[in-house]
Amino acid sequence: MTMMTSIALLVTLFGVSTAIVIPPETPGDDPVAIVIVQGAYVYPEQYREFGLALQRASDAPLWVGIAEGFLDNFPNPLQINAKINKVLGEMSDAGMPEDAAIFLSGHSVGGVFIQSEIPTIPAVGLLLFGSYLTTPLAEYPVPVLHLSGTLDGQTRPTRIAETFAELQAMTEAEPDAPIRRPVAILEAVDHAHFFTGELPDAVAEGDILSELDGDEARRQLAEQSVAFMEVARTGPAADQAADILRESFNSTGQFLAPLFDLQQLEADGDSSEWARFAQTFLLNIAGDSVALEVESTHVPDLTTLESRHWSVNVTQDPPQASVHMYSSVESTFNPLDSSANPVTSSEIAVKMTSQENLASLLPSAQFGENRSCLDINQAAMSSALAAAPDTVRERYNRRGKPVTYLADHSVGAGPLWVQERLRLNYTTDSLQVQSITLKTAPGSFIYPGSQYCKLLTPSRALEYIMTDGLRGTQP
Ligand SMILES: *[C@@H]1O[C@H](CO)[C@@H](O)[C@H](O)[C@H]1NC(C)=O
Ligand SMILES: *[C@@H]1O[C@H](CO)[C@@H](O)[C@H](O)[C@H]1NC(C)=O
Ligand SMILES: *[C@@H]1O[C@H](CO)[C@@H](O)[C@H](O)[C@H]1NC(C)=O
Ligand SMILES: *[C@@H]1O[C@H](CO)[C@@H](O)[C@H](O)[C@H]1NC(C)=O
Repeated sequence: MTMMTSIALLVTLFGVSTAIVIPPETPGDDPVAIVIVQGAYVYPEQYREFGLALQRASDAPLWVGIAEGFLDNFPNPLQINAKINKVLGEMSDAGMPEDAAIFLSGHSVGGVFIQSEIPTIPAVGLLLFGSYLTTPLAEYPVPVLHLSGTLDGQTRPTRIAETFAELQAMTEAEPDAPIRRPVAILEAVDHAHFFTGELPDAVAEGDILSELDGDEARRQLAEQSVAFMEVARTGPAADQAADILRESFNSTGQFLAPLFDLQQLEADGDSSEWARFAQTFLLNIAGDSVALEVESTHVPDLTTLESRHWSVNVTQDPPQASVHMYSSVESTFNPLDSSANPVTSSEIAVKMTSQENLASLLPSAQFGENRSCLDINQAAMSSALAAAPDTVRERYNRRGKPVTYLADHSVGAGPLWVQERLRLNYTTDSLQVQSITLKTAPGSFIYPGSQYCKLLTPSRALEYIMTDGLRGTQP
């Protein structure tokens, strides 16, 4: 055994690892440096290719340092500060100039922990790869990039959408926000594209396999990252870099627009277009045998909804019906702000009047077939698929897993209906959806002629089309 290999062995045995430092191929003025903190169970070495891609994308000499030696190969808040300082020290020892513009970055859970290190470790900016701030975007002390992909199955696009919405909201007051706090979701990029080699179990299970070649994905990720650093440090190519970032702000906005539209369809202040649709669709009036007007009131939560009740007024000649109905949307309970599970709304609860009731009030009216909550759920899926970006729809049609609709589960009383949630069962080969319904006959003693439904929301359907419905399928 040579001296070197025995040292290497000792290092492995006692975890005295140092850091991976990749100096720029050619030194020069205006040096830049980036420290990368790994995701859970991804070996630091697995980010080397991404580091090299960053260097290729950079006109400025770029120093890349990758932190090493986290306990159990899992970044943690106790070690992270020392690890970053260790890499920076090693980079200095290797010849990194003192005036290098330093950026910190983290992939996945590495990004979660590195974001709170900025005040103690002075850096020009922060890059979050398949990760996101858990504090408001507008309040972050330095420029910050969110960079992920449309096929990221772990840090799902629907979660990044929340940060993108923050960015859109601040852009009017701060026109430079899209280039100083960019949020970019790149087409066909997945969670594992940031590294090479074997996938940790969680990534293998959660991520979406992409048709995009890994080297090409890293080239695109590097281009965005370098553009962000160029703008943040006001480098010589900052203007061209800004164009790149504005373009991805545009394409990310276009990718997310259908999701935002569907969310607005579900709940827009105190009305819900989707609830109005559900009522109209449920009544299924044939032709124009009845002039129907539906007014929706959307309330903030189920507790409020419990005490509201629909009303309907009719006139016979000509047949007219005016319905006022109620709805509320439930958000996903997610106190830890995890993006591993779906993040869109988990159900829309709607209190409607039944077709049977309207038929009894308007004997001259004509109706199409009886409909159930299940039929409305199918319509939610169709609407989401129609609204989806072309790439998303095409991909889902090609490789997506189906939705299975189980017959509505009937409960016998209002409080039970309020309590029971829409049943969503994500299995390995489909999503099973089952509505909870409460139906009363027109002659019933309490709230006659009702049809209540706990429904699949169009945004949740789109999230399935984008992410969960592709998991485990081949590109
Ligand atoms: C965004 O892209 C669309 C379509 O490619 C284009 O028409 C529009 O001008 C772009 N907007 C901006 C602000 O770049
Ligand atoms: C039906 O008429 C009642 C009594 O006039 C009124 O309070 C209610 O708001 C009306 N409902 C609708 C949907 O027009
Ligand atoms: C609709 O369903 C109700 C009971 O749920 C039934 O009484 C009625 O006959 C049905 N109407 C049609 C057109 O099938
Ligand atoms: C979910 O679906 C699977 C597969 O059909 C089934 O075995 C399981 O019992 C279901 N779980 C629930 C909670 O319905």
